[in-house]
Amino acid sequence: MEKQLTGTLALAVFTAALGSLQMGYSLGVINAPQKIIERHYARSLGVYNEEVARREGENATGHEEHSDPSVVMYWSLSVASFSVGGMISSFLVSFVGDLRGRIKGMLAINVLAVTAGLLMALAKMGTPYLMVIAGRAIMGLYCVKYRGAMGALHQLAIVIGILLSQVIGLEFLLGNDDMWHILLGLSGAPALLQSLLLFLCPESPRYLYINQGKVEEACKSLKRLKGDYDTSKDIAEMKAEKEEATKEAKMSLLRLLRSSMYRQQLFVALMMHFSQQFSGINAIFYYSTSIFKTAGVSQPVYATIGVGVINIIFTLVSDAYSWMSYLSMAAIFMFVSFFEIGPGPIPWFIVAEIFSQGPRPAAIALAGFCNWTCNFIIGMCFPYLAELCGSYVFVIFAVLLFGFTLFIFFRVPETKGKTFEEISAVFQPKRGAQPSNSSEEAEMVHLKSSSEA
Ligand code: GLC
Repeated sequence: MEKQLTGTLALAVFTAALGSLQMGYSLGVINAPQKIIERHYARSLGVYNEEVARREGENATGHEEHSDPSVVMYWSLSVASFSVGGMISSFLVSFVGDLRGRIKGMLAINVLAVTAGLLMALAKMGTPYLMVIAGRAIMGLYCVKYRGAMGALHQLAIVIGILLSQVIGLEFLLGNDDMWHILLGLSGAPALLQSLLLFLCPESPRYLYINQGKVEEACKSLKRLKGDYDTSKDIAEMKAEKEEATKEAKMSLLRLLRSSMYRQQLFVALMMHFSQQFSGINAIFYYSTSIFKTAGVSQPVYATIGVGVINIIFTLVSDAYSWMSYLSMAAIFMFVSFFEIGPGPIPWFIVAEIFSQGPRPAAIALAGFCNWTCNFIIGMCFPYLAELCGSYVFVIFAVLLFGFTLFIFFRVPETKGKTFEEISAVFQPKRGAQPSNSSEEAEMVHLKSSSEA
């Protein structure tokens, strides 16, 4: 489509990006106030040793409470329940895909986020750990929305959300005994803002044209977004997209899993997401404050904010990178930087690049499920691993990353500048290994002719 930025378009993009910002906020918000919230959990569980806390002074973290296995478990669950919501939501993608652009649909989903935010904001009034766990799980479910559009802008909104939560989580702002529930509850705020803004946004022209066949209305919406111009080129483009979509039937999850035609692609797609998560990135975003503390950093929260800043900078410069000259912080900063240049954004769009329209939705759902499952495993297990391995815990990630690097080098084809045929040719079964049945042959015929997602 022609590029022309109007106020309405900017508003629509901003409104959409609020969903990703909210996801980033939820990812990062439980990092800085960990010790404070753990103390509340300990009290509620009746395992808090007030005596120890008093002896250690105002800022005491009360070592006893932390070694209590129930606190560790409930905290890990609070961190990781967010991904459980994500895991479930991965399978709702196509459902929401159909809702996409339907403003009412988005509004309905926002109810989830607001409910989640309220549950957490009211956590002090009930059993805090249960309410936080439930709130975060519902919030993860909400993240289904994020699945729809995975461009660079969305990764950028995520990292801005992460930083925002880290800054608001500073002790003198909301990361303290009195306000932590508000800090968590604010996770739902972007959804509220988004709901209001949605009333000002025009309906998606793609949705109007492709899903509903309303040409007139699609044109009207295009003009609201892009100004008064000749819409025929954009309409022609959508027409082509619609025809393309009808050429190839949508493939079910089960069929994709069984299909030998797509086995290679699926393996690569899942491995990309597996390696994104097992790089340990979220161990940092969930737990960096406690990691820095263990490493002897005196103001761990500020180091965590440093990670957030670096995260944004390197998301912005995705292509170029600069050399970092600092030396436990510098390593993490660099780790995050390199993550955002490659494994951060790439897995999210490569799936759409290596699958044609038919199997694409199923592939995206499976990849999303794989991503969130691994995210859950990291969120849940990292505290235990860290206790077991001490500072060597990152050696595990380093070894895994080495393996992933080899895998990507040998098995993942370059997609940049290649046509869809060129990309899919790499994945074709070797000569002699013919597709096992005629429907798979049919699948082969319908490969899309450009690598554009
Ligand atoms: C990617 C990952 C997500 C991670 C984020 C960090 O979007 O999928 O799990 O937290 O990058 O920037």
